[in-house]
Amino acid sequence: MASLRFILCCVLVNCACATIVSHDGRAITIDGHRRVLLSGSIHYPRSTPEMWPDLIKKGKEGGLDAIETYVFWNAHEPTRRQYDFSGKLDLIRFLKTIQDEGLYGVLRIGPYACAEGFPVWLHNMPGMVFRTTNKAYMDEMQNFTTMIVDMVKKEKLFASQGGPIILAQIENEYGNIMGPYGEAGKSYIKWCANMAQALDVGVPWIMCQQNDAPQPMLNTCNGFYCDNFTPNNPNTPKMWTENWTGWFKQWGGKNPHRTTEDVAFSVARFFQRGGTFNNYYMYHGGTNFDRTAGGPYITTSYDYDAPLDEYGKFKL
Ligand SMILES: *[C@@H]1O[C@H](CO)[C@@H](O)[C@H](O)[C@H]1NC(C)=O
Ligand SMILES: *[C@@H]1O[C@H](CO)[C@@H](O)[C@H](O)[C@H]1NC(C)=O
Repeated sequence: MASLRFILCCVLVNCACATIVSHDGRAITIDGHRRVLLSGSIHYPRSTPEMWPDLIKKGKEGGLDAIETYVFWNAHEPTRRQYDFSGKLDLIRFLKTIQDEGLYGVLRIGPYACAEGFPVWLHNMPGMVFRTTNKAYMDEMQNFTTMIVDMVKKEKLFASQGGPIILAQIENEYGNIMGPYGEAGKSYIKWCANMAQALDVGVPWIMCQQNDAPQPMLNTCNGFYCDNFTPNNPNTPKMWTENWTGWFKQWGGKNPHRTTEDVAFSVARFFQRGGTFNNYYMYHGGTNFDRTAGGPYITTSYDYDAPLDEYGKFKL
């Protein structure tokens, strides 16, 4: 009897928790329902773990359904095969905090992120050419991506396992720079798609700014305006993965500012023209701690004119 109850319990827990995330041409569907999703970016290394519950809660109060973050390869693997997931790099803790607040997660593994780039050791490997059909590069990218996916799966954090993550991202705005790579770039993006798909995460993969994204990858738009964006497949919903609330700041530059009127207009037009997923980039920009600001001449503040200021307070 006890064991029967145990089995029943497991079955019920699994049934209750696993979430089916899919899509049609109109929207992302969650357990079969089309959803209009509002998301906001918060990058875990740009605040402290003590701040995370409050930042995420404020996002929820602000009407967000989901929190979107990159995974920062340069920070997690500063030396080849020596990893750091401590303190503000504790990705799993961050994802569990999202789960605790009852929000969804969008995990942009990349592992290329535009401002943060790559670990330095990667550059120094023999025969290395970044982000193209190059064995040395592809092996390292696959190794890191697989490790992140395995870590997240182990903690059952994908929606398919009952966790919060409804979407994952491979590569990052590659379409913007792929021209000069020619055929090698085109086959690289196909390889990325196959590699990601084979990791079997059970939720859709997105490729932002990639208008030749191979199916079933979902291509999405990043920008100040995305109302004119049309996905490359009739079965891909119209999604805005980076709605830029502002910009990063350079030394001596003025504070980035985008008026509320302009964003409100861009939003209304996006939804009017069929948009169904929007992500504020950023919701909380935070701080480039230590020497992570990057260059040339980026400030330690990554405020981004986001709704929450560097300290996590609502802006007036
Ligand atoms: C990454 O490469 C190392 C060898 O450098 C290997 O031991 C490890 O299993 C690889 N990890 C994955 C997830 O492929
Ligand atoms: C884009 O972000 C702005 C705030 O920065 C917001 O007002 C607007 O609604 C967002 N766009 C969409 C499509 O949600």
